[in-house]
Amino acid sequence: MARKGKVTVVGAGFYGSTTAQRLAEYDVFEEVVLTDIVEGKPEGLALDMNQSRPIEGFETKVTGQTTGAGGEGYEAIAGSDIVIITAGLPRKPGMSRMDLIETNAKIVRNVTENVVKHAPEAVLIVVSNPLDEMTALAAKVSGFPAERVIGQAGMLDTARFTNFVAEKAGVPVGSVRTLTLGSHGDTMVPVPSACTVDGKPLTDVLAADDIEELVVRTRNGGAEVVALLKTGSAYYAPSAAAARMARAVAEDSGRVLPVCAWVDGQYGISGVYLGVEAEIGAGGVKRVVERDLTESELSGLRAAAEAVRAKQADVSSL
Ligand code: NAI
Ligand code: 2OP
Repeated sequence: MARKGKVTVVGAGFYGSTTAQRLAEYDVFEEVVLTDIVEGKPEGLALDMNQSRPIEGFETKVTGQTTGAGGEGYEAIAGSDIVIITAGLPRKPGMSRMDLIETNAKIVRNVTENVVKHAPEAVLIVVSNPLDEMTALAAKVSGFPAERVIGQAGMLDTARFTNFVAEKAGVPVGSVRTLTLGSHGDTMVPVPSACTVDGKPLTDVLAADDIEELVVRTRNGGAEVVALLKTGSAYYAPSAAAARMARAVAEDSGRVLPVCAWVDGQYGISGVYLGVEAEIGAGGVKRVVERDLTESELSGLRAAAEAVRAKQADVSSL
């Protein structure tokens, strides 16, 4: 099998290391690079992942590289087609994603500046929180065309919604389609009108109260995991989402995925990074896809746009 391309994951914490593992196990990339500022951590994890290759049966090579704040070590990412930014602090119980903004903005700014120097043609996939703001910041600092900077949140939130619906309806997750748009935060917009179970509208399968309960649980999906873990946040479902986005870029698949993308006129909204559906392929976002929404879903999406617009303006000075 012809493996091609180089993908870098910046940040070798829980999110970054599980993402690197998933990318390597796809066995479609030539090289996966994993970096972190903690001396030896990415090298150790890469060594361990490479030693799993004979057992799992994949050949993609994983390279670990410690980096310094001054950009030392970033040569290892040179020529990456895709860079996934997971560097940054996760939440602790009781914290909102927004509580991370100042610390993570400094980290994401520093990482992005170094990525631009060494991988100027890469598609950036941002996952650090608060997601919508960190995506906007990476876009601004990189100076990359808007379509080459994407945030991961919608795939995760949608997967959570799907899982909750499947459990409630007692059906396989594969029978369920759901969607969330808006922000990766309080103004997340789960979209019941786009949800189906075995092709039937969700409203024909579950009672309105049950749907509302699942909508609320989806909006709080990240906090629910944080409260149980007590230290750190979710990473299995988040890494699955980021890895699939990277694969859609690498394979130029044109898959329509819910992502944080630059919105320019769709839904009557302009000039903001927001959770929408988009066709993903080589070069990042090929097209933002608009669908019919109910009036309340549309007003929720517009409210989300205004909430994140204000924060995205603030973050560029951090
Ligand atoms: P973690 O604490 O396990 O790992 C973060 C890693 O980033 C650490 O290893 C740390 O040393 C590294 N790091 C810090 N500064 C760095 C720099 N300048 N360069 C390279 N590496 C650096 O946290 P975890 O669980 O991996 O989460 C990472 C981020 O992802 C957090 O901000 C978290 O909130 C966010 N997240 C986002 C989700 C989403 O859906 N968008 C879902 C889950 C987490
Ligand atoms: C999540 O939704 C904390 O953003 C992270 O799990």
